[in-house]
Amino acid sequence: MRDFKNEIAALIAGLPAIVDAGLDVSEVFALIEIPPEASKGDYAFPCFRLSKALRKAPQQIAAELTATLADAGILDVAEGAADGAAKSGGNCVGRVVAESAYVNFFLRRDVFSEAVVNEVRVKSVDYGKGTIGNGRKVIVEFSSPNIAKPFHIGHIRSTVIGNAIEHIYSFLGYDTVRINHLGDYGTQFGKMIVAYRRWGNRADVERAPIQSLLSYYTKFHEEAALDPSLEDEAREVFAKLENGGEEELALWKWFREESLGEFGRVYKMLGIEFDSYAGESFYSDKMDRVTDELKAKGLLLESEGAQVVDLSQWDMPPALIRKSDGSTLYITRDIAAAIYRKEHYDFEKNIYVVASQQNLHFKQWFKVVELMGYDWASGCVHVPFGLVSLEDGVMSTREGRVVFLEDVLNRAVSQTREIIVEKNVSTDNIDETARQVGIGAVVFNELANNRIKDYVFSWDKVLNFEGETGPYVQYVHARAASVLRKAEADAVRAADPDTAIDGSYLGSDSAYELARLIYKFPAVIMDAGEKYEPSVVTRLIVDIAQTFNRFYHDEYILVDDAAEKIAKLALVYAVKQTVGNGLALLGIEAPERM
Ligand code: ARG
Repeated sequence: MRDFKNEIAALIAGLPAIVDAGLDVSEVFALIEIPPEASKGDYAFPCFRLSKALRKAPQQIAAELTATLADAGILDVAEGAADGAAKSGGNCVGRVVAESAYVNFFLRRDVFSEAVVNEVRVKSVDYGKGTIGNGRKVIVEFSSPNIAKPFHIGHIRSTVIGNAIEHIYSFLGYDTVRINHLGDYGTQFGKMIVAYRRWGNRADVERAPIQSLLSYYTKFHEEAALDPSLEDEAREVFAKLENGGEEELALWKWFREESLGEFGRVYKMLGIEFDSYAGESFYSDKMDRVTDELKAKGLLLESEGAQVVDLSQWDMPPALIRKSDGSTLYITRDIAAAIYRKEHYDFEKNIYVVASQQNLHFKQWFKVVELMGYDWASGCVHVPFGLVSLEDGVMSTREGRVVFLEDVLNRAVSQTREIIVEKNVSTDNIDETARQVGIGAVVFNELANNRIKDYVFSWDKVLNFEGETGPYVQYVHARAASVLRKAEADAVRAADPDTAIDGSYLGSDSAYELARLIYKFPAVIMDAGEKYEPSVVTRLIVDIAQTFNRFYHDEYILVDDAAEKIAKLALVYAVKQTVGNGLALLGIEAPERM
C-alpha cells in the first residue's frame, strides 16, 4: 500500500521553511497527526514546534506553508473530482487548508480509494495480515472451564475473547499455541468421588454427565452440613487420587472424559479447537519441584502449618502454596504450569484470558514467579474481562440460576431459523444459514464492547438483527456477495488486481469513507493485538457495514458505463473481503447468502 503519511512528510520536509527550521523527514513524519474529524482533512501538520526556530507565530507559519504548497502546483486535481483527470501514481494531495496552527491535508479521493481497493485486491484473504510477530511464540490460554461443572454463559467470554485474540496474534505473524487449562484437579474431586459412590450411578452419568455429577456434588454439600465426617472422607479420597490410587484415578478420568465430551460439543458449534488440553491435573507431578525451588530460593515461609510466600511488601495477601495437609492449590498449579510452558514452548508472551475476579490471583503468582528470579515473568499477561449477569441477577449454580452455553447456542440457532422463515429470507440452505447467523450473533455480542465492561445477558439483544449486531454485519457481507453474484463475469474481473480501475468513480462521500475505513483495517488489527481488545476490530467492521449500506442506498453500482461499474464492483469486493477477514478474526462465519 502507498504510505500516504510518508508521502506527505516528504512533501513538507522539502519546503524551504522546514529546511530552514532544521527538521528532517522523520521528524516531520512524527509530528503529523490524523485529525479526529474527517472535515479537518486526512492528515494535519501542527506548526507549534517551528515557532521558535522561525520566530513566527504558529498560525502564521501554517498559513505560509499552505500558500507555498498551493503555489508549488502540486495540487493539480481537486479532491473529490470525478472527471477522470486523476492519474494513479500522481501526487496524493488534493487540497491543503490552513486552520489556526495546523496545515490540514486532504488526500485526493481518487488516488486514495484506488490505492486502497488495489491493496485489498492484491492481498485478498491476507489483507490486514502483519509480520511483526515474526514467528515468535505466543501462548493464549482461554476458556479453561472446570470439569463436572456447567459450561455456562459466563464461560463464553473467555472462550470467545480468547479465540479472537489468538486469531489476531496469529494474523500478526506470531506462532501461537492455544491452551485450555482445564480445571480438572483439586479437593472437589475427592468430594465428587465420595458423592458418586454414595448416590450416583453409571447410566445417569453417561446420559447426562455434567448434570448428574453436579447433582451429586450439590447433595454432598447438603449432607456434609449435617455430617462433617464426609469432608474428612473426601480429603482422604483426594489424597488417594493424588497418590495414584487406581480406583480413584479411574473414576476421575471417566468424569473428565464425560465432561470433555460435553465441552467438545460446544467448541464444535463455535468452531474452536485447542492445541493442548493440559489442565490443572497435568501439573500434579510437577508440584514438588515448585515447592522445592521456592524453598531453595528462601521464599517459602511456614504459617500455621501451611507453606506461603509473603507478599506484604506489595500489599497483597500471602500466596498459599501448600496447605497444612500437604495438598497443593490452584495457585501452585499455575506457577508449575508457567514454568512448564516456558521450558516446553519458550514463549515470548503467555496470555491468560480469565475473568477480572481473578485479578488478585494473577497479580500474586506473577509476583511469585518474578521473585523466583524468572525474567520471563514480564511476558505473562492477564487479560481480564467483566462479569456477565442475567436479567434476574448474578448467575448462581447453587440456586439454579444458570444459563448453559449449549442451550444459548441451540436456542440462538432455532430462533434465527424462525426469523429466516418468517422474513422469507432467500437462502438455499436454511439450516446452514441459521447456524451461521445464530452462532455468529452470540459470538458477536460478546465482542461488541470493551471486554472489561460487565454486561447483562439479554436474548432480545443477542437476536436483534438491526443496529450494531452480528447478523447486521453478516448481512452486509451477504449483500456484497449478492451484488457480485449478479454482476457475474464483471465481478470476477473487478476482483482481479490485473484489471485496472479508475479511482475517480470512487470519490463520493460514502465511497471515499469506505476506502478510509478499509484502509484502517491493518492498523486496527495491530491495535487490537496490543490492547488484547477484539472489540476494536468489531467496531471497525460495524462502521464499514453501516457505510456500505449508505453507499448501496445512495449509488447505482451496476451501471451501464463499464469503467464505472468495474471500479464500484472492485470497491464492493474490497468491502466483502475486509468484512470477511474481520469476521474470521473474530471467529464468526461470513455467509454468502442470507
Ligand atoms: N478453571 C478456572 C475457572 O473456571 C479458570 C482457569 C483460569 N486459568 C488459569 N491459568 N488459572 O475459574
